[in-house]
Amino acid sequence: MVEINTERLILRDWQESDLPIWAAMNADPEVREHLGRLLTAQEAADSMRRFQEDLDRNGFGFWAVQVRSTGEFVGFTGLDRVDEGLPFDGVEIGWRLARPGWGHGYETEAARAALAYGFGPVDLPEILAVTATTNLRSQAVMRRLGMTTDPAEDFDDPEPDSPQLRRQVLYRKRRD
Ligand SMILES: CC(C)(COP(=O)(O)OP(=O)(O)OC[C@H]1O[C@@H](n2cnc3c(N)ncnc32)[C@H](O)[C@@H]1OP(=O)(O)O)[C@@H](O)C(=O)NCCC(=O)NCCS
Repeated sequence: MVEINTERLILRDWQESDLPIWAAMNADPEVREHLGRLLTAQEAADSMRRFQEDLDRNGFGFWAVQVRSTGEFVGFTGLDRVDEGLPFDGVEIGWRLARPGWGHGYETEAARAALAYGFGPVDLPEILAVTATTNLRSQAVMRRLGMTTDPAEDFDDPEPDSPQLRRQVLYRKRRD
C-alpha cells in the first residue's frame, strides 16, 4: 500500500466512504465538461474499484486525494498506462477534483507528488498528460508542473463523447 503525503494532502487507497462524493462529482456537468458524458452511480462505483485494482496490481495508479486538515475526500490524482490505439505510448498523469476542491492549488500539489513518485520509485524516464484542447484549467496545471506541448503532436480522440472533445493535446515531461 502506497501512501503519499504532501503539505496539505494525502494520496491514498480508495475507501468505500469516498463513493458518495466520487459518484456526485462524476454526475456534475462542470466537472465532466471536458471529459465527456456524466457517469451513472454504478459506473462511478465500477471505476473506483478498477482504480484500486490497478493500485494493488502495479503499485501506482489513480490514488484518492484527501485534504489532511479536514479529512475531506476531493478526487483523484495519479499515473496510468496510456490507452491503446493512441499515437503514443507510455505512462500519463491524470487528475479529477470535485468542484469544491478547485482553486486551492491542490491539484498542482498532488500532481507534483505523483510525478516525483513516477520519476522516483517507478523509475519512469518520461511522463505524459493528455486533455481536450478546450480544457484550459487542466493545461494550466500541466504547465505549472513544467510539462511542455508541441502542437504537431495534437491528435484526435478516436471515440469522443462529443465533437467538441475530439481534438486533444499531449504534454510531456522528462525526468530531470
Ligand atoms: C483540472 C483541475 C484539477 C484543475 O483544478 P485547479 O483548481 O484549477 O488547479 P490547482 O488545484 O492547481 O489550483 C490552481 C488555482 O488555485 C489557486 N490557489 C489558491 N490557493 C493556492 C495555494 N495555496 N497554492 C497554489 N494555488 C492556489 C491558484 O491561484 C489557481 O487559481 P486560478 O485558477 O484562478 O489561476 C480541475 O479543474 C478539475 O478537476 N477539472 C475537472 C476534471 C478534469 O478536467 N480533469 C482533467 C482531465 S485531463
